[in-house]
Order: sequence, then structure tokens, then C-alpha cells
Amino acid sequence: MPQQRDHWNSNIGFVLAATGSAIGLGNLWKFPFITWENNGGAFVLVYLVCIAAVGLPIMMAELLIGRRGQKSAVGALKDAAGPAWGLVGGWGVTCGFILLSYYTVIAGWSLYYFARTMEWSFSGFPAGLATGDVFTGQVGNAGLQLALSLGFSLGTVAVVYFGVSKGIERIARTFLPILFGILILLLVSALGMSGSGEALRFIFRPSFAELEADSVLEALGHSFFTLSLGMGAMITYGSYIARHHSIVKASAMIVALDTLIALIATVIMFSVIFSVAGMSEQVGGSTVGMLFISLPELFYSEVPFGVLLGPLFYVLVALAALTSTISLLEVVVSYVIDEHGVARHRATIGSGIAVFVFTIFAALSFTDTPFLSTLAVFANKTGWFETADHFVSNWMLPTGGFAITIAAGWIMSRKATESELLDGNQPDWFNYGVWRFFIRFVAPAAVAAIIIAVLFGVDFS
Ligand code: PFF
Repeated sequence: MPQQRDHWNSNIGFVLAATGSAIGLGNLWKFPFITWENNGGAFVLVYLVCIAAVGLPIMMAELLIGRRGQKSAVGALKDAAGPAWGLVGGWGVTCGFILLSYYTVIAGWSLYYFARTMEWSFSGFPAGLATGDVFTGQVGNAGLQLALSLGFSLGTVAVVYFGVSKGIERIARTFLPILFGILILLLVSALGMSGSGEALRFIFRPSFAELEADSVLEALGHSFFTLSLGMGAMITYGSYIARHHSIVKASAMIVALDTLIALIATVIMFSVIFSVAGMSEQVGGSTVGMLFISLPELFYSEVPFGVLLGPLFYVLVALAALTSTISLLEVVVSYVIDEHGVARHRATIGSGIAVFVFTIFAALSFTDTPFLSTLAVFANKTGWFETADHFVSNWMLPTGGFAITIAAGWIMSRKATESELLDGNQPDWFNYGVWRFFIRFVAPAAVAAIIIAVLFGVDFS
């Protein structure tokens, strides 16, 4: 029996939920790091161009495919482009499944750091404590890793269990304002630090001499990850949009907020780093370094009101991660509901358990577990976690994204896409012909460049 489809209760609820999916570890963890590695300024500018020229048109494409089909990624792509396109949807669901399985592990670290920073705030940061050792100690502790990722998985399942309007939307409406509030507090504090001027110059003053070809591709690759594109998450969220909400306006809001938050997070982190002598030499070389090794200590030694802001910062990371993990689980759950007729409660629990089996593998990747910590499929990637991340970021998201541009730009009729985008609510600045040009030519060419680069060994993970 077909079940009544749940919908977003309000446009703002939908925009917040989709923004919550987009804002995640990609903004707080990956973007600052790659901006650092690529020398700031020019890279940031290139990233903004990629977001506008590739990310935004694909965001609109995914949302319109979802809203038109009113089904999960598999069903919606089949409706939009033909039966064979169900495979692309299936690719997306698989990608969501894998990404969720290891994303939860890093999300779990935020819970650990919240607990530790609370302890340090109350009893003082222990003199001489090496935060690098704290980090390696926690990732290497199998029981702890399993407990943290289980806790995070249970939280994710609990939200998705209650469905779109009563679960996902309600959480987004409550948590995103808190997330924005914490970020603003952190920003104000960071701007008061002595390194903020240098940080702003580093981020916003472009120096094209330092830009490399690989940086352009890295910016492009990251625009998929950060906007939750290429794997059907936005198709799924789009399938719960009611007809009278404008896809164009919503896409613009989601993309703008995601970008703004990534920039604010970067300003915060770099202001701290530039305020401390010698710190800029230390942070390079590791993605986890900034978030989980350098920052915890600096909250207590450098950051104004760090005693308060330290724990709040890890609440921020946890909330950002949670609103992303629920969207990843929803991709899988909505597929099970729509394509296999399973009720939401059972679909959520079943999918949650299935994903968690793989989360166990990822969680044990940093402990001395044979195979899980030693697996070496790709060059320079060791262990289950790194292998899965490499596969998703390099292969799955770009190929999925490419297929979606082809479906929306070349397979679907002009009439079909035009009627979804020009729905009477679109803003004045929107021009359908421009969108169509970008989705047919610019976006596929750009994504094809990523895929070719991956074939030649460039790494986006
Ligand atoms: N956009 C998320 C981030 O920036 O961390 C990652 C992500 C979440 C990708 C959900 C895909 C997705 F469906």
C-alpha cells in the first residue's frame, strides 16, 4: 500500500534542513584545511566561482528532480530520465551509505572533545598535556571509538525515525539557529585576537601566483562534498518540497549559507592560528590537526572566553555533523521506503543497523586491527577509513554529479526542467537559459575534468 508522503511543513524548515545537510565537517574541517594547504586568497576566489558556476546549478537540478518525482533518488531519477537512471540513483544511495558509515566516526570525536573540554573548563587545562597524545589516545582506543560512533548513530536514527517534518525539520529548526549563534560568538572572539588581520588577509587577498592547477580541481571537488551534491541527498530532500516553494530561491539560500559558514569557520580558525607564534608551522600536514589537536589547547591559552567557547565549539561541530548524518541516513531510508514499501520505523532501524556494521570497520581503522587498519587499496591511503573516504570523494561524488548534470541537462526535456524552475515563485534575477547553459555545458565539463584528474592520480579526499 503506498504510504502518504511526508512533506516539509514550511519553506524555511526545508531550507534549514538542506542547509544543515550542507553545513558539516566539510565546512569546519575540510574547507579550512584545504584553504590553508592552497595558500588562501586565490583558492578561496576560485572556490567561490566553482560554487556559483557548478554547485548552484547542480543544486537546482537535484532539487527539481526530487520535487518532480516525489520519490527517493532511485525513483525520482527513473521518472526524470528513464528506467536505466535508477542505477545512478542506486549509486547515490550506496554512496550515502558508505559516506555515513565513516562520517559518523569523526562526528563521534566531537562528542569526545566536548566531554574533555568540559572537564578542562571546570578543572583547568593540565599543564604540559600534549594534545597530540590525547588525540592518538582516543582514536586508538577501540572501545571508546565504538561507543562514540554508536552514540552518534543512535542520535541520527532517532531523528530520522520520526520522519521528515516531525524529525528532520524539527531538529533543523532548533539546532541551526543554535549553530549560527555559537559561530557568531566564536567569530566575535576570534576577531578580537591579534592574528585576525593576518587571517583576513590570508583568506581574502588573492595572490594568483600561488595558485596551482590542482587547486582549481580541489576547489571543484570540495564544492560537491560541501553542498551534499552528487549522491542524491538533495534529490531526496527535494522530493519532500511542496509545489508552491521556489527551488531557485531555496537553492540560492542554501548555497549562500553554506559558503558563508565555511568562510566564517576559516576566519575563526586562522585568527587563532596567526595569533600564536610558531603555530602556522605546526598546523600543516594533517587534516585533523587544526580541529582536534591545535585548537583544544589554544582555547585555554589564547582564545578570549575560551573556557566557555571551547566546549561550545565542539557542540557546534556535533550539531553540524548531526544535521548532515541525518540527511545521509534519509537518502538510504527513503530508498528503502519508496522502492521496497517498508514502513519508516522499520526502514530506519534496519538501515541504521546495516550502516553501523560498516561504521564499526571505520571506527576501528585507527586501532591496531589487522585488515581494518592496514588495508591499502589506493596509494598513500591506509586502513578502511581512508580507503572509503578516498573512494567516495574521488570516485563516487564526481561520477554521480556528472550523471545528474547529464540527466537534467540532456535527457530531461526543456519543458520539464523549465516548468519546475519557473514555477511562478522564482526570483527576478533568475534566467532559465543561463541555468540551462551551465547545466548542459559548464557543469559537466568541470566535473569531467575532476574525473580525468582522478584518473591521472589527483587526490580529493
Ligand atoms: N555536506 C556535508 C559536509 O560538508 O560535511 C557532507 C555531506 C553530507 C555530503 C550529506 C553529502 C551528504 F548527503
